[in-house]
Amino acid sequence: MRLAILLSGRGSNFEAIHKAIVDRKVNAEIVCLISNRPDAPGLTRARQLGLSAHLLDHQKYPTRAAHEEDVLRVLAEAEPDFICLAGYMRLLSPAFIAAYSHRILNIHPSLLPAFPGVDAQAQALAYGAKISGCTVHFVDENLDAGPIIVQRSVEVRDDDSVDTLSARILEQEHIAYVEALLKLKTRDWRIEGRRVLFR
Ligand code: GRF
Repeated sequence: MRLAILLSGRGSNFEAIHKAIVDRKVNAEIVCLISNRPDAPGLTRARQLGLSAHLLDHQKYPTRAAHEEDVLRVLAEAEPDFICLAGYMRLLSPAFIAAYSHRILNIHPSLLPAFPGVDAQAQALAYGAKISGCTVHFVDENLDAGPIIVQRSVEVRDDDSVDTLSARILEQEHIAYVEALLKLKTRDWRIEGRRVLFR
């Protein structure tokens, strides 16, 4: 399974995926990693690990479309089976998503469809949710909305801050992303409506 990783920041989900591959939990290869931010720790880490790491700084392009064209060019060369968004803070155009239909995965730190968008953990806390978690889903043309592959839940505690809740969710994110890739790799699956069904 050839994986591309797109990120903008810390890269802990990328590292969790990389570790699962090194530990032979998932039979996969990271064939390229793209960061749109020069200061992303995940980009530095990918370089240290000797991966094919690309900086495509969106601020250096005249238009959103020009940046995306370059991202698509790098992806086309890498020929990934799946593209894993791992904290990638850029919207993908409908054409991009259509080009990789049901091959782009994202992870979101809430139990979707609750709390899409930014600051999902803060949203859950402010709403008073007692359970939150994370969702790995296929990317479609709507934000944080595509068919769900894996979800994992965590309790929201009375003494939680955004930081403590985010940390507890992040632990589950790392498990969930690997679980999603493993299932896509090892099981027969199909999509019926919004449902991703595994045999
Ligand atoms: C994670 O919370 C993920 O759910 C969200 O962005 C964050 C990325 O964290 N989409 P990291 O860069 O993988 O550490």
